[in-house]
Amino acid sequence: MVVNMHQNRIYISPPHMSPRSRALLLEAFDSNWIAPLGPNVDMLEEEFAQKIGVARAVALSSGTAALHLALVALGVGPGDEVLTSTLTFAATANAIRYVGATPVFIDSDEETWNMDPGLLAEELDAAARRGKPPKAVITVDLYGQCCDYGPILDICRRHDVPVIEDAAEALGATYRGTPAGNFGTIGCFSFNGNKIITASSGGMLVSPRADIAEKIHHLATQARDPAVHYQHSQIGYNYRLSNLLAAVARGQLEVLEDRVDSRRANFRFYEENLGEWPGLSFMPQIADGRSTRWLTCLTVDPQLFGATREDIRLALEAENIESRPVWKPMHLQPLNADCRTRGGDVARRLFEEGLCLPSGSNLGHEDRRRIVDIVRSVCRSNTRTHNGSRVRACTHP
Ligand SMILES: Cc1ncc(COP(=O)(O)O)c(C=O)c1O
Repeated sequence: MVVNMHQNRIYISPPHMSPRSRALLLEAFDSNWIAPLGPNVDMLEEEFAQKIGVARAVALSSGTAALHLALVALGVGPGDEVLTSTLTFAATANAIRYVGATPVFIDSDEETWNMDPGLLAEELDAAARRGKPPKAVITVDLYGQCCDYGPILDICRRHDVPVIEDAAEALGATYRGTPAGNFGTIGCFSFNGNKIITASSGGMLVSPRADIAEKIHHLATQARDPAVHYQHSQIGYNYRLSNLLAAVARGQLEVLEDRVDSRRANFRFYEENLGEWPGLSFMPQIADGRSTRWLTCLTVDPQLFGATREDIRLALEAENIESRPVWKPMHLQPLNADCRTRGGDVARRLFEEGLCLPSGSNLGHEDRRRIVDIVRSVCRSNTRTHNGSRVRACTHP
């Protein structure tokens, strides 16, 4: 008997499989291509590159592996600095540590929640004055939304610093009509279980530069030289994607647009039903951009709403519904206490007040309705105090 571990709980972003993924997986299983290479890996790379319009794609075991190899391929190493967004998942900053480099964090822009181009320019100008430019910038396309790449790429070009785009959360998003993943020398994606399409785990690295993609393909395959006797001239990694998982990912890629539409429909529903409530503000969508709304995120002003984001999270949890605070910024993590940060207060506030609501592409309408009702009821019933002062009572019906 198959036990469904997910029964009754509403998860923030559960997998949403398709019959085609199942069929391709079983086909791959029966073919006995059960290895970190095989026809599905090759086909996935081709299909993925075509889908987002990039020259080359290399299927890897995770988004983290993609970030790691991106830095290795660009020659980032000990003593180097790499600039990145403070508001991100730990994997972005950890990859910088893997190569012995030091992360420098840039605050978010209120309008996008992504890297603030003005602060990036300040930091790059200051680095130029110090005579120590960073070796790379890792931009992060947060929660399904591309950064403001117009100014960001101008600044990086001016300083001749390569960009790695961490698009782990943004497959399917666009900026000025261009799909996420196309904005850097290297783009990195994730197929982790909670992503918009998933293979349970896995990642993809893309590049417009065939030489870089080839180098990464080589490094990810234990850097084995072309010789029958297993010769190695470089340190390699076992980072290739399994043929079985590539089969699952191929089926998922076919339904990407459908998944984007469903996630955006979730967002619209939440916004229509909660957007007018005082104190609730949804993550803005960048002008010229189309967010996938991978996760619907909002901030809660406790004075205006009458309750904190934690009150809402706990109320949902009491009904067996998962929601999550916005990422804790990297500059507030104990691990990064010694790292330089430009700004930081915007990301801090987004963390303190931000909440990600259940956003799965398979979230049912009745469940969405329940979630909205619970959020509203928190506002109505809450009488607790916030930071010692009594919060305003809910004025909504
Ligand atoms: C912004 C960001 N970067 C990198 C990763 C790492 O991807 P993976 O889990 O596939 O290693 C994730 C998520 O998992 C992410 O959200």
